[in-house]
Amino acid sequence: MSSKFSKIGFILAVAGSAVGLGNAWKFPTLVGQNGGSAFVLLYLILTLGVGFVIFLAELALGKLSEKDPVNAYRTLAPKHKKAWSFAGFTMIANILIASFYSVIIGWILKYVFLSITFELPFDINSAKDQFNELLHKDFLSQLICFTLVFFVIFYIVSKGVKNGIEKLNIWMMPTLFILLIMMLVYTMSKDGFYMAAKFLFVPDFSKISVSAVLEALGMAFFSLSLGVGTIITYSASLPDKTNFITSTLNIIFINILVGILMGLIVFTFIFEFSADPAASGPGLIFISLSTLFSKLGIIGSIFAVAFFISLIFAGITSAISMIEPFAFYLINTYEMSRKKALIIIGFIVYILGIFCILSYLSFTHGYFSFFGMSFFDILDSLSSKIIMPLGGILVAIFVGFIMKKEGLKILFKPYMRGIYFELWYVFLRFISPLAVIIIMISIFIR
Ligand code: PHE
Repeated sequence: MSSKFSKIGFILAVAGSAVGLGNAWKFPTLVGQNGGSAFVLLYLILTLGVGFVIFLAELALGKLSEKDPVNAYRTLAPKHKKAWSFAGFTMIANILIASFYSVIIGWILKYVFLSITFELPFDINSAKDQFNELLHKDFLSQLICFTLVFFVIFYIVSKGVKNGIEKLNIWMMPTLFILLIMMLVYTMSKDGFYMAAKFLFVPDFSKISVSAVLEALGMAFFSLSLGVGTIITYSASLPDKTNFITSTLNIIFINILVGILMGLIVFTFIFEFSADPAASGPGLIFISLSTLFSKLGIIGSIFAVAFFISLIFAGITSAISMIEPFAFYLINTYEMSRKKALIIIGFIVYILGIFCILSYLSFTHGYFSFFGMSFFDILDSLSSKIIMPLGGILVAIFVGFIMKKEGLKILFKPYMRGIYFELWYVFLRFISPLAVIIIMISIFIR
């Protein structure tokens, strides 16, 4: 990834990385499990107060070094180069995420097939049974869909990120957005819509716990692809004269919007059928959306196919951005061919992905569960609740205290100066890392 993106190509690639199953799948699931509105509010505060701040720091790291995460730290650290380069290895979390993430894209692919064959059920209980059947019993479908998704992702990365995704993004983002708006308009006519809006927007702080705050923090990092070197890697090819402040704000806005729209649509159908928003686990969006689409007959099936396919693309553009940092590192450091680097990474992602699938299947009898959690959940929690925030703290300390302020001032000057720059700098040095540290510590002493 050494040549530069085109201006629009960069913004699309970063937006493509950010907008994905984090917004469409993880966000509604966590909102359901953590009591709704207060969680949404926390997520918004942490996205702006921590996510935005660290996003700009990662951007500076990438742009000023033009390297992969490990070599970015190594290049920019004035001393202790080796020690700092370890901070770049938080990108390993990307590999963990890529594995369970591809499994979820595989589930969506399965739902494309179910939509084509008119097999989406009408009521929520049958929808639940259908998803649980897939998750707990149907190894073969999951394996086939995961494998297909896996090969598509690695094929695109093998062609190089810049060629592969620019054309894809330019179509898929707007398509996803238009479909979401159309679905929202339909949902508004339902009784459940009012309850969904209340659930998402009228704050109820009685439902907030320390673990919900950590979940919201992890969500903020996950949905902006932070703390794992993705933004560093993409910014290494940031074209000159891109207003990266407005670009970043736009990306954050779109990212939040997709999550909120998905939340409104999904919860409308959950409340419409008086289902429990917390009970559906990873199947929430599949269960809710199936009932929405099946109610609309043939049109619903066409819609379902279009919507699930655009979700698959949104997921794939994110998955690509998980693979690229490590590949870029291997190519840079060991002068490996792209193909060889991808074979190594692909091998790990595939094996971990299979373990994720096995960990939910009933016939494995909890063999792939540890500490009462499935392997799938362990990868998810480990990456978003531990490694990503940790990666974020390291970025904040490095850019805030180790790098020279003057260099940053020059980089940001055309787009953010004076009080705005100083405000960002104070947030970067003190407020954001402290907030992350306090949230992470309080989970252990509660
Ligand atoms: N931000 C992506 C999403 O919301 C997930 C992601 C995480 C992408 C880490 C890259 C790196 O779906």
